Amino acid sequence: MDKLNSLCKRRGFIFQSSEIYGGINALWDYGPMGVEMKKNIKDSWWESMTQLRDDIEGIDAAIIMHPKVWETSGHIQNFTDPLVDCKKCKQRFRADQSVGKSCPNCGGELTDPRQFNLMFKTHIGPVEDEASVAFLRPETAQGIYVNFQNVLGPSRQKVPFGIAQIGKAFRNEISPGNFIFRSREFEQMEMQFFIHPKEDKKWMEYWIKERFDWYLNLGIKKENLRFHQHEHKELAHYAKEAYDIEYNFPFAWKEIEGIHNRTDFDLSRHSQASGKDLSYFDDQTKERFIPYIIETSAGVDRSLLVFLVDAYHEEEVRGEKRVVLNLHPKIAPVKVAVLPLVNRDNMPEIALRIFHDLKHYFKCFYDDGGAVGRRYRRQDEIGTPYAVTVDSQTLQDETVTLRDRDTMEQIRVKIGELVELVKKKLA
Ligand code: GAP
Repeated sequence: MDKLNSLCKRRGFIFQSSEIYGGINALWDYGPMGVEMKKNIKDSWWESMTQLRDDIEGIDAAIIMHPKVWETSGHIQNFTDPLVDCKKCKQRFRADQSVGKSCPNCGGELTDPRQFNLMFKTHIGPVEDEASVAFLRPETAQGIYVNFQNVLGPSRQKVPFGIAQIGKAFRNEISPGNFIFRSREFEQMEMQFFIHPKEDKKWMEYWIKERFDWYLNLGIKKENLRFHQHEHKELAHYAKEAYDIEYNFPFAWKEIEGIHNRTDFDLSRHSQASGKDLSYFDDQTKERFIPYIIETSAGVDRSLLVFLVDAYHEEEVRGEKRVVLNLHPKIAPVKVAVLPLVNRDNMPEIALRIFHDLKHYFKCFYDDGGAVGRRYRRQDEIGTPYAVTVDSQTLQDETVTLRDRDTMEQIRVKIGELVELVKKKLA
C-alpha cells in the first residue's frame, strides 16, 4: 500500500485534500491520471448497466434531499456506529473495532459506547435552526426510490426493471483509513432493480453473478475476489439478505460492493410517509403490489483502489526494476503515448502530428522529455497499454514502432494504419 500510495502521488493519480494546509483526514483529490481512471470506471459501469441493457434507466438526483427522506429511510435512527472516547488522549474509536476497555493509542480509559450518526448535517437557507437542518446523502439509493414513479411513467418500463445512478455520498466515518478505501466523501454506483416479491431469490442470484463478472471482465484476478454472505446480525436495517463482493487487499479481505435484497422496505415506507402511492400495477396479471428491490451498490473510489492494487506489478528487466500497472485498457487513464525517439531530425514534428491525429480517437499523451527508456517506464507506471515511437526509420518509410506495455514487444506499423490497429487492440 505504501508503494501504491507513493506511485499515486508521484504520477498524479491521488493527492491528499488541501495538502498545502496540512491535509484533511479521509478526504482525497484526484489528479490528472486519477480523474481519467475514475471516469473510465464510471463509464464502464454505466455502459454495462444502462447502454447495454434495455431494462435499466439512469438518473442523477440531488445530493441534498428533503430531511423527511432520511427519517423515513431509517437513517436518522439507524445509520450509526457505536463510538467510544478515550478519557485521556481524547481520540475516538469505533467500539466494534477497538479492542478491550483501554485506548489502543495511549492505554487510557475509554468511555461507554454511544451511538454516533454518520450523516453530515448542514442547513438550508440563511437561518440555522432545527427547521432548516438537512443532510448530505450517505447513499445515492434514496434518490432513486423517491423518483420511482417519475421514472416509471415516462420510460414506460415494466417490472422487472432497474434505475441506475452514479454520484457522491458522504459519511462522517469514525475510523476512516487505508488510503481511499474508507473516506468521508466518496462516489457510489448504485442500481435498484424493482421486481415482483416472489422473484427475489432469482434476481438476487442473477445480480450477484452479473456484478462479480463485471470485475472479472475488467481484468481483476479471480483469486482476489470472493463473496461474503451477511449473517443476520450484520444485515443493514433495510436488508433481508445481503452479499458482499470482497477483494483481497494488502491489508485484509474487504467489501467492495454490496448486493442487497431490500424487500419493499423503502418503497413502502416512502409511500406511507409521503402519502403518495408507490405501488405498481401489472397490466397482464391485474395484480397491484409494492415491488421488492434488489440493490447493487459499488464504490467508485474503492473500485479504483481494487484496479490499482490488482494491476500493480514489479519485475526486473535487464537488471533494472520495472514498475507497471497491468490495467485493463478500458480502465487505463491513457491509452496511447506518442514519443519521438530523439528531439531532432523532424521526429518531434512527426510525433506531434500523430499525437494530434490519434487524440481524436483515444486519450493520448505526448512525451519528449528524457531518454526514451525512462519515458517508457513512466508510461508503464501509469498503465498506458501502447506507446508509439517515431524513429529514424519513420523518416524513410512512414512507419513507427508500437510497443506493448505488458510484453514490451515492439512491432512496426504504417502511420496510416495506426488508428485502426490500436482500435482493434483496445477493443
Ligand atoms: N445503498 C447501500 C449502501 O450504501 P454500503 O454497503 O453501505 O451500502 C456500498 O455501501 C458501497 O459503497 C461499499 O461497498 C463501498 O464500495 C462504498 N462505500 C461505503 N462507504 C464508503 C466509504 N466510507 N468510503 C469509500 N467507499 C465507501
